[in-house]
Amino acid sequence: METKAFIQQYKVVPVVVFNAIDEVRPKLQAMCDGGLPIAEITYRTACAGDAIKIAIEEFPQMLVGAGTVINRQQAEEALGYGAKFIVSPGFSEEVAALCNERGIPYLGGCVTPTEIMTAIRYGCNIIKFFPCSNYGGLATMKALAAAFPAVTFLPTGGISDKNLAEYLAWDKIFAVGGSWMMKGTPEEVKEKCAQAVAIAKS
Ligand code: 3PG
Repeated sequence: METKAFIQQYKVVPVVVFNAIDEVRPKLQAMCDGGLPIAEITYRTACAGDAIKIAIEEFPQMLVGAGTVINRQQAEEALGYGAKFIVSPGFSEEVAALCNERGIPYLGGCVTPTEIMTAIRYGCNIIKFFPCSNYGGLATMKALAAAFPAVTFLPTGGISDKNLAEYLAWDKIFAVGGSWMMKGTPEEVKEKCAQAVAIAKS
């Protein structure tokens, strides 16, 4: 299935931080068991590249992308391992250009009209809105959407099972991202993923 369609089917993108390689398999398995086979594995830790490689080789049922990608070199590495989408906290023109060359969705972070105009110039019409709660949440996204009717949003930062439904109720939300379902033991991850999927479906 096409990457954007895959994400839209679930509407939730888990933001995953692996501190050590031995966490990778149990957590990914828990996500699959919880019915949420999407992972944005973030370049916040040194093992991100290896984790992406393992995820792609050993969890073919999952949609694996790279997050917190802040330069072309990280994007090249992740795409080399087979990442299917790239996410950045801000909008990187060099990463956008690379993703366009490779035909890969790029979800770059934007919180201002100027940043969104840059994203649009690169053909990126899904805007990561981060850190969402600090920048005014839904109210700010709605104000931005008035000027940019063609974009949809991936809000992340401060979202949890408590406010997920409120975000998903707005039709300009492409999907919601966050790390709330990744905390705890694999059993807890499985439960929280299942709960997120249930909220998104309802
Ligand atoms: C991200 O990079 O998208 C965020 O760090 C996720 O935010 P959260 O940890 O508040 O869910």
